[in-house]
Amino acid sequence: MWGPLVASLFACSAYASPPIDRRALVTRYNPTRNASSTTTPMQVGNGNFAFGADITGLQTFHPFAIMSTWGWKNDSLPAGKTIEDSFRASGNVGISLENHGRLVEYMFNGAEPMQQWMISNPNRVNLGALGLVFWSEEGTVLNVTESDLMSAKQELDLWTGTLTSSFVFDGTPIQVKTISAQTVDSIAVTVSSPLLESGQLGIFVDFPWNDGSLKFSDPFVGTWNNASIHTTTLNSTPRGNIGAEIAHTLVNSTFITSIGGDAFTIARDSPAAHRYTIRPSAKSGSTFSFSTTWGLTSPKSVPSPSAISLSSSQTWESFWTTSGFVDVFTGSTDPRADELQRRIILSRYLMRVNEAGDYPPQESGLVNNGWYGYVFSFAPRCIANHPDRETFRKFHLEMYFWHCQHWALWNNWDLLLRSSSVYDRFLETSIARAQVQQGWPTGARWGKMSDPSGRSAPGQINELLIWQQPHPLVFANYEYRAFPTTTTLRKWESVVRNTADWMATFAWFNKTTGVYDLGPPMYEVAEDNIYNNTYNPAFELAYWRLTLGFAETWLERLGEQVPANWTIVKNGLAKLMVNNGTYKVFEDVEDDFWTDPTYINDHPALVGLVGWLPPTEGLDLETSRLTTEKVWASWNISNLWGWDFPMLAISAARIGEQDQAIEFLLDPFFQFDDTGYPVGGVRVPTPYFPGSGALLYAVAMMAHGWDGSTGNAPGFPAQGWNVRAEGLSKAM
Ligand SMILES: *[C@@H]1O[C@H](CO)[C@@H](O)[C@H](O)[C@H]1NC(C)=O
Ligand SMILES: *[C@@H]1O[C@H](CO)[C@@H](O)[C@H](O)[C@H]1NC(C)=O
Ligand SMILES: *[C@@H]1O[C@H](CO)[C@@H](O)[C@H](O)[C@H]1NC(C)=O
Ligand SMILES: *[C@@H]1O[C@H](CO)[C@@H](O)[C@H](O)[C@H]1NC(C)=O
Ligand SMILES: *[C@@H]1O[C@H](CO)[C@@H](O)[C@H](O)[C@H]1NC(C)=O
Ligand SMILES: *[C@@H]1O[C@H](CO)[C@@H](O)[C@H](O)[C@H]1NC(C)=O
Ligand SMILES: *[C@@H]1O[C@H](CO)[C@@H](O)[C@H](O)[C@H]1NC(C)=O
Ligand SMILES: *[C@@H]1O[C@H](CO)[C@@H](O)[C@H](O)[C@H]1NC(C)=O
Ligand SMILES: *[C@@H]1O[C@H](CO)[C@@H](O)[C@H](O)[C@H]1NC(C)=O
Ligand SMILES: *[C@@H]1O[C@H](CO)[C@@H](O)[C@H](O)[C@H]1NC(C)=O
Repeated sequence: MWGPLVASLFACSAYASPPIDRRALVTRYNPTRNASSTTTPMQVGNGNFAFGADITGLQTFHPFAIMSTWGWKNDSLPAGKTIEDSFRASGNVGISLENHGRLVEYMFNGAEPMQQWMISNPNRVNLGALGLVFWSEEGTVLNVTESDLMSAKQELDLWTGTLTSSFVFDGTPIQVKTISAQTVDSIAVTVSSPLLESGQLGIFVDFPWNDGSLKFSDPFVGTWNNASIHTTTLNSTPRGNIGAEIAHTLVNSTFITSIGGDAFTIARDSPAAHRYTIRPSAKSGSTFSFSTTWGLTSPKSVPSPSAISLSSSQTWESFWTTSGFVDVFTGSTDPRADELQRRIILSRYLMRVNEAGDYPPQESGLVNNGWYGYVFSFAPRCIANHPDRETFRKFHLEMYFWHCQHWALWNNWDLLLRSSSVYDRFLETSIARAQVQQGWPTGARWGKMSDPSGRSAPGQINELLIWQQPHPLVFANYEYRAFPTTTTLRKWESVVRNTADWMATFAWFNKTTGVYDLGPPMYEVAEDNIYNNTYNPAFELAYWRLTLGFAETWLERLGEQVPANWTIVKNGLAKLMVNNGTYKVFEDVEDDFWTDPTYINDHPALVGLVGWLPPTEGLDLETSRLTTEKVWASWNISNLWGWDFPMLAISAARIGEQDQAIEFLLDPFFQFDDTGYPVGGVRVPTPYFPGSGALLYAVAMMAHGWDGSTGNAPGFPAQGWNVRAEGLSKAM
């Protein structure tokens, strides 16, 4: 990693200035609170596992979630159904749509209730809750609420990943330190208070029910009053350093919570509840430290609180010091610089906690389960066409670019490589989707709303969206830029071939016009078209052209023959349709779509023609500049999604409108809360992490440049900004 890192470090320090004081800048933005937020937690975590805390450093008053990339369960099957009653069985075949003379089977409009079951399952579980228990001197349990705490203070030290919470109860101080392990899914908790000596303070462990029918799983996940439909079993026979273990079973899935550390006793509160109370043994004195590990199996041991603390501080310090870094604050006079720097630092932390796991992340990371069955604010014409009930507890492969591609530009390859291997892992099921389910002659078609097995959920949008298809070619391309070796080429070869094969085969040669068309049927990025008759969306055409080129180059580098169809299709794709000096969003859209609410209320992907993407062959730069500016003027900015703003920012940066780029990054409709969570806006619950990933992608690009850009910080205004970047890589 040091090669590219050091090289770019030198490349951008135009003046031999001392390195950025990263620690000072990171800790400047340590979030602090004096009360719980009722919408977002404070989190510690490791990318595959995260623990959301209220003001007590635990989940004493608010059941913020403990979630992971591996904690999934299936709900019971609908009565009389078996797992085999899915699509393609029992006559439940979804719908067949004509694709230019070819009947293709898509998984939507299938028979209920199995279709709904397949959308809702598996679903991601909340692993539990930990909180403080207060007793009176006489030993009765006290009903303490947050308003009973005085002088509450909480600080998350970003440099070490340590959450410290302190408050006074009934005149007595209490301090709680919460830290997440980095290679195991464990937390260490250290409680310090004179109330421990007098036996008046303990810990509870509790377990919720979750299922796929819960409409709103934000800000909290699961229900705590459905005790009879799930079970917990306590094993309090000590084993090694584990003092107690609780097995929690929901339908057919069991999750193990293992607790160790200072001596304690544990008992179930009542047979009718899944809540257990831990009493520190008197020997603990005024400090009680324990570790808790969550997993699918019993671990041999739990890491000690001191080992967890060390693992956290080492990992975080290394994260902050050895990967990319951007300082837009020091020396800038523009008043917007402080807030932008805050967003950068807090996004770096939260992405490392929530979006650095073994699978692409869901929209709300490991904070909560976003939404399910949310009523979209789609234009009326689209609601009728949009019966999908999406679920955000799964991950969406079209969003993977915005969630995670920034890791490449910031040189966090260890984190990106955890999840980008998903293209290898899902290749077989994606080949089956293309060739077995849908009957295409060749290639792999990447799914959209996926579970960890690579199964994409039924749904119109899920089946007909196409802009996720080229993504692996971009992930591969960035990896080769960082590691230009034959090993990289061979590693991705199969994914590259199958991805491009399907792209070539999906493009259809229109004999009337002599060009290759994309669609119908298909959904474009904004999902606001009628899938049956729309064709040639501008962004997708450009993306196809760009990435089929990446695929060609890939094989050329390997010294292998490029399949003729890739080149034929790439060169023969329809030209982008122009009307009155600007590009049209798709070929058959009406000329005055610029004023039609149907088309101006969702992702403005037209600005991606030059911005998100480099200008592709055949693109007219003046037309695309006019198009971009017309989008800025016409689109309904108040209705946009988080990642749209960074996408707009890089469209501005690439055409030299740097001040406008900053305006988009700090747009009033693109907010980050006091701890840096990207606020969902009018469309989605908080947090909506594609906004954070896109922000980091845009900042890296604006601070360190893109292929062909010149000068330091080409995306920032010349006046008022002093921008320094270390260890970044250029964007494409
Ligand atoms: C608590 O925090 C809020 C918001 O940061 C602040 O306005 C308020 O003054 C603080 N209260 C105390 C008692 O520190
Ligand atoms: C849920 O059921 C599916 C079959 O549809 C199976 O492949 C998957 O492994 C199950 N997941 C869990 C967590 O049980
Ligand atoms: C749970 O297990 C039972 C017994 O093996 C099986 O019949 C049932 O289909 C399973 N349910 C789910 C949702 O996987
Ligand atoms: C799309 O075409 C299918 C048949 O191929 C038809 O059943 C469906 O109603 C059409 N949908 C729309 C929105 O036109
Ligand atoms: C605890 O106190 C709060 C506020 O006084 C009250 O709303 C709640 O019902 C009480 N809970 C119990 C279990 O007594
Ligand atoms: C679980 O509890 C919720 C309320 O929190 C209720 O609406 C739902 O019906 C319960 N589910 C079952 C299966 O009992
Ligand atoms: C071929 O292209 C023309 C012009 O774009 C379009 O009107 C026509 O519908 C296309 N043909 C088919 C069968 O899609
Ligand atoms: C190339 O295109 C031709 C004509 O459309 C088709 O018959 C052939 O199967 C394609 N080959 C591949 C590898 O996609
Ligand atoms: C064509 O674009 C110009 C601005 O570029 C605008 O003034 C004019 O109204 C547009 N004409 C039509 C028919 O939309
Ligand atoms: C713009 O978005 C807002 C917020 O969602 C919505 O209320 C309004 O109707 C939209 N305006 C248009 C012209 O579509």
